Amino acid sequence: MRKGEVGFVLVVVFLLLGFSSASTDDKYQRWRKSMFSPYSTATSSLLINRAGSSIVFPIHGNVYPTGYYNVTLFVGQPAKPYFLDLDTGSDLTWLQCDAPCVQCTPAPHPLYRPSNDLVICKDPICESLHAPGEHKCENPEQCDYEVGYADGGSSLGVLVKDVFAFNYTNGVRLNPRLALGCGYDQLPGTSYHPLDGILGLGRGKSSILSQLHDQNLVRNVIGHCLSGRGGGFLFFGDDLYDSSRVVWTSMSSDYTKHYSPGVAELFFGGKSSGLKNLLTIFDSGSSYTYLNSQAYQALTSMIKKELTGKSLKEAVDDQTLSLCWKGRRPFKSIRDVKKYFKTLALSFINGRTKTLYELTPEAYLIISSKGNVCLGILNGTEVGLQDLNLIGDISMQDRMVIFDNDKQMIGWIQANCDRLPKSRTMYM
Ligand SMILES: *[C@@H]1O[C@H](CO)[C@@H](O)[C@H](O)[C@H]1NC(C)=O
Ligand SMILES: *[C@@H]1O[C@H](CO)[C@@H](O)[C@H](O)[C@H]1NC(C)=O
Ligand SMILES: *[C@@H]1O[C@H](CO)[C@@H](O)[C@H](O)[C@H]1NC(C)=O
Repeated sequence: MRKGEVGFVLVVVFLLLGFSSASTDDKYQRWRKSMFSPYSTATSSLLINRAGSSIVFPIHGNVYPTGYYNVTLFVGQPAKPYFLDLDTGSDLTWLQCDAPCVQCTPAPHPLYRPSNDLVICKDPICESLHAPGEHKCENPEQCDYEVGYADGGSSLGVLVKDVFAFNYTNGVRLNPRLALGCGYDQLPGTSYHPLDGILGLGRGKSSILSQLHDQNLVRNVIGHCLSGRGGGFLFFGDDLYDSSRVVWTSMSSDYTKHYSPGVAELFFGGKSSGLKNLLTIFDSGSSYTYLNSQAYQALTSMIKKELTGKSLKEAVDDQTLSLCWKGRRPFKSIRDVKKYFKTLALSFINGRTKTLYELTPEAYLIISSKGNVCLGILNGTEVGLQDLNLIGDISMQDRMVIFDNDKQMIGWIQANCDRLPKSRTMYM
């Protein structure tokens, strides 16, 4: 009902946009310009440079207290900047959009004014956003979408194509036309962030990485390096790391909705916790790590047992996260408490071998504003994740985490995330 009404309003708005701005001739002119001039230059230089070309984006934000990471994208003609929430847990990139907006949340920039280049309903990118059998578009000339997030938030809108501005690490500019969501009806979820939109970097066809790959502009590889001191960088392409030094595990072929290495076994201080078969995903859209109720219960009791008789006492008055502990004096950094906590690890089965993903105390604890230490691993069942276990930002800090969609591998390697990489030589 709501979707139908809004869809109708939009058709009208797009017609108005198309005709009010210029005569039909003018409109066509603009189109041709955006379509051909910058795009074709980049494409031709690319064909020569392709082997050594990645795209790097600086990232801003932190796990605590900000609770999200943002990446700046330049979209439109002329290109305007937008701050987007980094999310490897979803596919579609969308901007809060003046279509006009029915319901938008406060954003750092003026709403995106959509191009009038609509994605049609039977475009494969549109089809990838609709579940099989789902009621699709109101109008075959327009692709309506609705995406929902685990925190209850959602965005409803229409897909348009517009020009994005990127720079390769070798300095070559590129201005591809990519599909993005013009989100004109947003509901904030429990982890609402005041940004212009979401940068979806999941495995699906609609993700901008997948679109860049389909246009032959970059290898289908995405990675990020989140610094424990805040900030970091994101990259598309495969020439910023030495693959032979990366620890790789295969992406699950059963669970293809997310970046999942399949099932894991949890280790506590080098010993098996007895918890096996934990279906796990990597999700940069989540600040914290989540375990299902059973694993969470087991982990928290192991930690509490380990802390008995130590000087840390549970801080029930600190609501920062579900479980916090206070010391004799307020803590300033994880270094002050590291000795009380063991290293955890998730062991993924990779053919006949096992791959360990280690979580030192820095990868699962934060120091709250009250100076207590809090557990950054939360009960996923409580937030509706059911059996899914999720590795969030806190557990991906100070390493590159790489998702190679061509080889269907997930990899990680210790790295300095404070400096933007210029070329691969930095890591050799
Ligand atoms: C997003 O990142 C930019 C830098 O690229 C920064 O200036 C801005 O404050 C950040 N915005 C938010 C809302 O975090
Ligand atoms: C690309 O590089 C140029 C020159 O350094 C710079 O002016 C421009 O802002 C960069 N564009 C993006 C999208 O980073
Ligand atoms: C985790 O959340 C579920 C659902 O709310 C709840 O039933 C369970 O008791 C919680 N587990 C722990 C250990 O708190």
